[in-house]
Amino acid sequence: MSTRRQAIPVALALAAAAALPAQAQGSGQINVICSVQAEWCNMIQTVFARSTGIRINMSLKGSGEALAQLIAERANPKTDVWFGGTGDPHLQAAEQGLTLEYKSASLPQLHAWAQQQAQQSGYKTVGIYSGPLGFGYNTELVAKKKMPIPQSWADLLKPVYKGEIQVANPASSGTSYTMIATLVQLMGEDKAFDYLKQLHRNIQTYTRSGTGPIKAVARGETTVSISFVHDGPGEAMQGFPVATITPSEGTGAEIGSMSIIKGARNLENARRFYEWALTASAQELGAAAKQFQVPSNKAAKVDPHVPDFKKIKFINYDYAKYGASAERKRLIARWEKDVNALPR
Ligand code: G6P
Repeated sequence: MSTRRQAIPVALALAAAAALPAQAQGSGQINVICSVQAEWCNMIQTVFARSTGIRINMSLKGSGEALAQLIAERANPKTDVWFGGTGDPHLQAAEQGLTLEYKSASLPQLHAWAQQQAQQSGYKTVGIYSGPLGFGYNTELVAKKKMPIPQSWADLLKPVYKGEIQVANPASSGTSYTMIATLVQLMGEDKAFDYLKQLHRNIQTYTRSGTGPIKAVARGETTVSISFVHDGPGEAMQGFPVATITPSEGTGAEIGSMSIIKGARNLENARRFYEWALTASAQELGAAAKQFQVPSNKAAKVDPHVPDFKKIKFINYDYAKYGASAERKRLIARWEKDVNALPR
């Protein structure tokens, strides 16, 4: 990314830091796993350090990878806070006792869906943003290849899209797990797996990270992606020919979440970060970093690039059921065995 493109968000970020209430200078550090895109993670690191004096050691990981790391380091946790990523693996971490119960006084300032995520987990996680699942497509490639723009989940199975679609691997990516859970809720489990087997034939690559596919679409490496639609505008603002659409049958939404890790070595700083990340001004950094989820703090400004939820047909996503450990493990194992093992 060029310095020029970064110039505006950083200036905004610093202004946001200045607008934060003056706090006693903190000291020390905090270890954060960050599961949103790098630009937002970097901005958080800069602004939080400026406003508190606390240094963040940041490690970028997809939602599924982050959960795997927390399970691996359970006996000797090296992470203090897990920021962002889809809500299902955060609920799974809560269920497995990997995260700490913490009830923020700011909860009433959050949207109902974010508070519900906290209640459902026994206050071991909280919603920080939300965004809908849909498709990304390269506007120039569809025109050049004379392909129709996919309007529905059913459309993605058409032979015209063979080798033209990217989606992430659900073991590493929360985006991809959200897709599986959405399809299961939309069609029933057996039909959803029949669908995924047919879709498999049209898949060009399963990527590690959930944002890999829309970046590949933007750069013309593939034509269509299954992605969170709030990841589209940031690519388009960089000048790439990318647009997004949500499927006509209905779709799911993520509740991006944040958790404090049980056994955190920097617990005081972890709580301070958590409280800061729930403030409206900290949540506005997402849009400043060109990431357009809906912030969970009701007072945070909603950028015009944020997808309009009222125009999207949503399923009634059962976050408790699909965030349960056994269910997530079982569905991913079934996908590995019944779908990913098949030739393409
Ligand atoms: C992107 C999106 C986030 C989402 C995350 C999940 O960063 O902007 O809204 O939570 O991807 O990443 P994953 O790699 O787990 O699919």
